[in-house]
Formats: sequence, C-alpha cells, structure tokens
Amino acid sequence: MSNCEYKPGLEGIPATQSSISYVDGQQGILEYRGIRIEDLAEHSNFLETSYLLIWGELPSATELEAFEHEIRYHRRVKYRIRDMMKCFPESGHPMDALQASAAALGLFYSRRALDDPTYIRAAVVRLLAKIPTMVAAFQNIRKGNDPVRPWDDLNYAANFLYMLNEREPDQLAAHVFDVCLTLHAEHTINASTFSAMVTASTLTDPYAVVASAVGTLAGPLHGGANEEVIQTLEEIGSVENVDAYLENCLQRKSKIMGFGHRVYKVKDPRATILQKLAEQLFEKFGRDEYYDIAVALEKAVTEKLGNRGIYANVDFYSGLVYRKLGIPTDLFTPVFAIARVAGWLAHWKEQVEENRIFRPTQIYTGPHDFQYIPIDQRRDF
Ligand code: CMC
Repeated sequence: MSNCEYKPGLEGIPATQSSISYVDGQQGILEYRGIRIEDLAEHSNFLETSYLLIWGELPSATELEAFEHEIRYHRRVKYRIRDMMKCFPESGHPMDALQASAAALGLFYSRRALDDPTYIRAAVVRLLAKIPTMVAAFQNIRKGNDPVRPWDDLNYAANFLYMLNEREPDQLAAHVFDVCLTLHAEHTINASTFSAMVTASTLTDPYAVVASAVGTLAGPLHGGANEEVIQTLEEIGSVENVDAYLENCLQRKSKIMGFGHRVYKVKDPRATILQKLAEQLFEKFGRDEYYDIAVALEKAVTEKLGNRGIYANVDFYSGLVYRKLGIPTDLFTPVFAIARVAGWLAHWKEQVEENRIFRPTQIYTGPHDFQYIPIDQRRDF
C-alpha cells in the first residue's frame, strides 16, 4: 500500500528539473531559456530559436549560419522512405504518417552514441531538416503527386510552404509561418514532451523519441485541438449562433476546443500573437469567413468561463492562420509537430545528459489472492 497522494494527470507534480522554458500561468508569461516569447516572435526566427532551445544560448552569426547550412543540406529524405510513404493509405491521418516516417528514420540512422556530441548534433540536424520534408511528402503523395524536392535557396519556413504548394510563397506568408513555428517550438513539460522524455530515459534513439512524441501530440486534448477548432467554427456557422452553441456545450458539459489550459489561467500569450498574425494575413489576403465567429466565441467563452480560468489557448487562432497560408486542416497538427521537434530534442538532450529512467509508482486498486479457475469451470456472463 502506497501512502503517496494520487493526482490524476500528475497535476502539480514536478516530474523533472529543466532550464529550457518557463510558464507563468497566472500572468501569461512564456520564456524560452529566459527570453520572452514576444521578443523571440519579433526578433528571432525558428532555426535560431531551435538552436537556443537545444544548446542553451543564442548562436553567434557564424554558428547560426553553419547550423542553417547543415539543415539545408540534410532536408532530403531517402527514396526508400518516400517509397514507404507511397504505401500508406491516402485516407490515413498525416500525423500517423509522420509518426511512422519519423520512426523509420531510426532504421537508416541506427547508430546510437548518446555521449557523443557529434552524434547528438547529427540527430538534431536530421530531425529538424527531414520532418518538414516528410510532412509535405505525404501531402503530395496522397494527392497522387510525387514529393516536391526541397529548394535549397529558400529558408526553413519558406521551403516548407514551397514543398506543400510547389510555388514560391509570398514573403509575408513565409514570415508568419516562421513566427508560428517559433511560437510552437517549446512549452515546458506538456504531454508530448513528457512522452519524449520517458522514451528518452530508456536511452533509445532520438527517432523513437520523436515518434513517440508525435503519437502523443496527435490527440484532441493536445495538438489535435487546432483541427477541432476549425470544425467547431464550421459547426457554429455564423456569429448569431455563437451563444446558442456555447449554451449547448455548457449544458452537455462538453469542452470548447481551443480553450482552457492546465497551466494558463489567463489568455495564452501565444494566442494573442497568433491573433495578430491572423489579422496581418487578412489585411493582405482577405478576411477568413470564420474569423468573426472566432472572435465572438472567444468573447462569449471569456464572459462565461473566464472566472474559472478558461481562456483561449494556442490552438484557438493557429488554425485560422494556417488556413490563410493554404495549409489543409488535417496538416495543422503535423505543422505543430514540425515546430515542437525543437522542444522535444532540447528535452531529449537535457534528459540524456543527466538520465534516470522514468519509473513512477502506482496505487493498485485490484484484488489480491484471487483463485485461478480452470477454463471449463468458468461461466459466461
Ligand atoms: N471548455 C469547457 N470547459 C472546460 C474547458 C473547455 N475547453 N477546459 C476545461 N474546462 C473545464 C472542465 O470541464 C473542468 O470543469 P469541472 O471542474 O467542472 O469538471 C475544469 O474546466 C478543468 O478542466 P480539466 O479538463 O480537468 O483541466 P485539465 O487541466 O485536465 O485539461 C485541457 C486542460 C487543455 C486538456 C482542457 O482545458 C481541454 O480539454 N481543453 C480543450 C482542448 C484544447 O483546447 N486543447 C489544447 C490545449 S493547449 C495546447 C496543447 O496542449 O496542445
């Protein structure tokens, strides 16, 4: 019999020590390595932020150039992985395709040398470089096309949009997408990061670490919520229906997607930035028909549930940004994964540097000393 207090969902229980990121949920503060997310969104870019998260400090100009160069060089994926992806069912979810493809990388880069900085760097570069290529490849393959080869002249964000649509993206679109990646790159010990850390703690390879995290991110209570937000807005259909929709959810005690957070008890700072990015895009490319519904829903939810600390989270406005960038709804979570690979890798590195395998305890609630009944004496129920 254990005398530990059981907390469902491990709420409030520290499972690690980390210097990677910090959230103050009461004040709506998010920092990566001590730097406010607002500053990174304005001044940094996704690859510089990834370097900061993984190696703990901002790179010098030479270090950043070398890092970007390595990533450009490793963007392509092996033809056997592309061929494997061609065998995936077109109707399958792109997150499942990504999980399988990330795990498949482990077949090709099987050496495991977790105490070798060269190995760590190579794995970081490969995963950051190839995950976007694999997401775009599945999208092209399921449309019946060949995967689009990465374009070396384009930066990280622009190249992904190019591989998706096979045309050079608009500069504002590429910039907004890059900021989205920065905003989603890391968020302390959330479910997928915890999953990555548990897997990492067995000292398996980083491809298995990322594959397990992708599987965890896919669920609707985590990364999958951004897809469901669009379905919610679609279902509501018009601003006039917002109040009735919300009333119905509250009566049925069903959750409104894109709201609520285990840590934030105010509006998620990333949602504030994403809303501004959405507005920038609308100014240039035209308003999204769902935006007014989203704003009305946020207002209504804040009025009804704000006193319980339920506000818009990161997933609420990200979908509207992605729609304007021409990203299909079921790629929203894979796009989240492209960004979060940086955080997962930072935690992988931190975990293996000071590792102890995760092996928590449980409170057993079943019987003891039950008698084994032979099968011919058992009754059907
Ligand atoms: N709509 C209505 N009620 C809510 C919501 C919501 N979106 N979120 C929480 N609540 C209520 C919930 O019903 C519960 O009420 P009661 O105490 O009366 O049972 C109370 O608030 C606490 O909710 P919880 O589910 O126990 O809280 P949690 O910390 O376990 O879960 C959460 C956090 C994010 C899973 C939850 O807020 C949720 O399911 N939100 C909707 C899904 C969503 O938007 N997920 C994205 C999360 S942010 C990005 C990410 O992690 O990927």
